[in-house]
Amino acid sequence: MPPSRTLPFSSYSDPSVLHQEQERIFRRRWQYVGHTGQLPQPESVAAGRAGDAPVLLTRDAGGELRAFLNVCRHRGSVLVAEDGARKTVQCPYHAWSYELDGRLRSAPRSQGEDDFDASSLGLHPFAIDTWGPFIFVNPGPAPAPLAETLGRLPELVASAGVDVHALAFKQRARSSYEANWKVCCENFLECYHCQIAHPGLANVLDIREEAYTLEEDRWFSSQYGPLKEGWSGDFDPTGSVGHGQFHFVYPNVTINISPGSPNLSIGPVLPEGAERTSRFLDYFFAPDADPKWVEDLLSWDGVVGDEDTVLVENLQRGVRSGVIEEGVLFRSERLIAHFDRLVQEDLA
Ligand code: FES
Ligand SMILES: [Fe+2]
Repeated sequence: MPPSRTLPFSSYSDPSVLHQEQERIFRRRWQYVGHTGQLPQPESVAAGRAGDAPVLLTRDAGGELRAFLNVCRHRGSVLVAEDGARKTVQCPYHAWSYELDGRLRSAPRSQGEDDFDASSLGLHPFAIDTWGPFIFVNPGPAPAPLAETLGRLPELVASAGVDVHALAFKQRARSSYEANWKVCCENFLECYHCQIAHPGLANVLDIREEAYTLEEDRWFSSQYGPLKEGWSGDFDPTGSVGHGQFHFVYPNVTINISPGSPNLSIGPVLPEGAERTSRFLDYFFAPDADPKWVEDLLSWDGVVGDEDTVLVENLQRGVRSGVIEEGVLFRSERLIAHFDRLVQEDLA
């Protein structure tokens, strides 16, 4: 089979392409927005994002989780910027206030308006679902259940020795890149670059083509890197989790599991503009994980992240230059081809 082709280079810097992607991808696909630990008690709220849509998560007095567009029905202000305990949600602009189930509760001076219909001005709801502590939101109307997107992924993660229900949240790490969001996703989707670009990772995982396996499902893909024989490094990768695993849920959710004690990081790749992207990763560990081991793993992972920043920003400078229309993808990059196909299907 000859090498396949990348997406057109122009699609990595064209603002009109990003506009279409927001409409046709991010407005209709399930995305990770945060975790249940952000709303630990009844009567709490949290803020997140799905694509460019601000998301409000609420947990009502009865404990039920809901998601809404985090936008006031009066003139469109964002409502909530910070997570916290709340019995109601009040807009910071003109003080319209909403119940945690989305109903408009009060609007100052509304008594003076003719035919003011509060019942039609509740918050715009989004579909919400969870996998263990992970909260996913879909801004589309009546989407298929999250389980259809995740497919066998929860099983695969469980069978690797990670019980997501038993993990404890440790921290959120944020990063930003001068690169298109697809460049960041595609960088996540191959380890062809690991040998030259990630010496620390290559000392721990066996990244040889014959050892490092790639699997595609309908909406997600997985990479498995076995522990390298004679591994070396600052963090001890031996434990109940035997493989490094990197899962990607279309369109933008990255999941990392390192070998060693149970651990998992999950987070979205968020377009900020055609050539700007932000990410965050929520790190979870077994509650009894050794703090020193956790710190060592985080610093090992942080080095890999810094190395990737240089790679994606370099690639962005190249693809934006024009002249060449596209690139080629090797077999080791077939998960990129899978991602690109899904992007093209959604945009078609
Ligand atoms: S925009 Fe929210 S109350 Fe006016
Ligand atoms: Fe990388």
